[in-house]
Amino acid sequence: MGPRTILYTGKGGVGKTSVAAATARRCAAAGLDTVVVSTDPAHSLSDSLETELGGSPTACGDHLWGQEVQAQAEMERHWEAVQEWMGDLLAERGVDRISAEELTVPPGMDELFSLLEIKRHHEEDRFDAIIVDCAPTGETLRLLSFPDVASWWLEKVFPWERRLISAARPIARGLLDIPLPSDAVFDDVQRLVENLVGMNAILRDRSSTSVRLVMNPDRMVVKESMRTFTYLNLYGYLTDAIVVNRVLPAEAAEGYFAPWREAQLEQMELVRSAFAPVPVLVAPALEREVMGAEMLDRLADELFDDVAADPWAVLHEEISRELVSENGTALLRLPLPGASKADIELKKIGLELVIRVGPHKRTIMLPATMASHRPRAASFDEGTLEVRFERDDDGVTGQRAS
Ligand SMILES: Nc1ncnc2c1ncn2[C@@H]1O[C@H](COP(=O)(O)OP(=O)(O)OP(=O)(O)O)[C@@H](O)[C@H]1O
Ligand SMILES: [Mg+2]
Repeated sequence: MGPRTILYTGKGGVGKTSVAAATARRCAAAGLDTVVVSTDPAHSLSDSLETELGGSPTACGDHLWGQEVQAQAEMERHWEAVQEWMGDLLAERGVDRISAEELTVPPGMDELFSLLEIKRHHEEDRFDAIIVDCAPTGETLRLLSFPDVASWWLEKVFPWERRLISAARPIARGLLDIPLPSDAVFDDVQRLVENLVGMNAILRDRSSTSVRLVMNPDRMVVKESMRTFTYLNLYGYLTDAIVVNRVLPAEAAEGYFAPWREAQLEQMELVRSAFAPVPVLVAPALEREVMGAEMLDRLADELFDDVAADPWAVLHEEISRELVSENGTALLRLPLPGASKADIELKKIGLELVIRVGPHKRTIMLPATMASHRPRAASFDEGTLEVRFERDDDGVTGQRAS
């Protein structure tokens, strides 16, 4: 089994860096050799840990290392030939050099290369725990689901394409005014795809890798996290905990912050309905910024209490829903232990599927591609609800389980 790997992701400013650093300190305090890795190009891990960190692991306590991956350097190392080739291509098309260089880096690509650092740590086997502070949004994790397609491409298409291009190069040089990719470009692409396939295997290893979604109890933040959760499930990445950070404490129930607290309590309901049965870890808004050892350890004390005493444990072991789709139909499979058929009621509103089981409510955000799908049939068997969707323009939006 590889080192325990935990990825913290979530919207901007919700507390990913603080929670990641707090988790890492806890792991280190328990004697695990731990590295906390920031893959967010806008690093703030140094500030959080109050230690100047470099591009490779820097010691910052007993059993603790911190690392701010230098995206640019990683990029140059892994993607140089492709960048050069694309840069030439664009420059020849009249795009100025600086813009051309910017354009050779697709969005999300730099973080992707930073994430490859996780793979390197797995290969080196130097750490017991790898805690990753990801960039905002789950976009990069979505990019990582691409290896499924990539490995097929690598095996089936790539060798042919490469052979064809090599054969065509001498002829094309005379006929076309665009440079064809060189062998070095293919080497880069091939290495990248292989790395991504390896990365994907690491990320899908549910015995040691999980994602934790960090959010604040604000409506827009929760909604975006629900979308991310949907994709994580869809791609088979295990989410083992939800972190709700900066919850206003009971002291705020009166006075200026009272309406805020009121609204937050409502959002907490949505959180429970949207992410169940994944455990929810809660931390209050502390009275000052979370920086340095003392504040980080306080945050850790709040997060990791009786519900989840050991931050390195896999706090939840199952992917909580399954969605398979093909040819305009989709099948959602959802365990609802303890429910009985007669109690289940479904309703789809926009992209949200609301499932009522007696007094309980579960809210499932469907992927954007299912906007025009309608629930057509539902069955409940051995504690699992199955809902079949079909693409449609008009039709029933509410249905009872049959
Ligand atoms: N529970 C908390 N109580 C008080 N302040 C907090 C709490 N959690 C985080 N903060 C503060 O909020 C700010 C944002 O936190 P942090 O940098 O951890 O968020 P982030 O999600 O990593 O942000 P970014 O998306 O910009 O990387 C920081 O100043 C941090 O000290
Ligand atoms: Mg951060």
